[in-house]
Amino acid sequence: MSKKSFFFLSGTIGVLFLIAGAGILSADQKYDIKAPNGLSFNDIKGYEAWQVVAPSYRTDKNEVRYILGNPVIIEAYKKGVPKTSPAFPNGSILVKVAYSEMKEPTFPPALVPDKLQRIEFMMRDSERFKDTGGWGYARFVYDSATDAYKPYGKDASFASECFQCHTLVKDRDYVFTKYPVR
Ligand code: HEC
Repeated sequence: MSKKSFFFLSGTIGVLFLIAGAGILSADQKYDIKAPNGLSFNDIKGYEAWQVVAPSYRTDKNEVRYILGNPVIIEAYKKGVPKTSPAFPNGSILVKVAYSEMKEPTFPPALVPDKLQRIEFMMRDSERFKDTGGWGYARFVYDSATDAYKPYGKDASFASECFQCHTLVKDRDYVFTKYPVR
């Protein structure tokens, strides 16, 4: 190999490492983004592998979603909460992952996820979040063009908007999603 092509090759490899490194960084950086109330992806670390509680579909937003639960809340659901006990235990977390929909090109009657829209979660800490029913809320809006997340809400009061609507299901401990038979 000539000296020139050696330098060219090592330069190219260096640039490739830089690009790969930047990719890894941006995936990690998502964990540092904080909602205005301080909650972040760090609070739901590992959620990608959590169990599905149930899917849902918003006819007015044309979005398909799935709701994930951490092991604490899955165990509680299995024990029959919120029917058998009025409250999910501290440490319970639910994550909602929402996508725009598209028709499966090879089989159009099937609606499937298209682009990720946002990730939001609620976590139970009855002391820390006592102003919002014992649940802390956070939402991160995803922009697929830049592969970046933006926290939702101007200040910490955004959570009262979440809480208000979730109060519709106060008798189910503010949780809409039920754990269906599987
Ligand atoms: C106008 C009503 C409304 C508002 C406002 C709202 N939600 Fe919800 N949320 C719902 C409904 C209805 C569901 C049931 C599942 C679905 O819609 O996909 C839900 C489900 C959820 C779930 C899954 C657990 C459950 O209760 O089923 C999470 C997590 C969640 N919302 C977080 C938030 C966060 C965070 C905010 C505020 C940034 C928020 N929600 C604001 C109506 C609302």
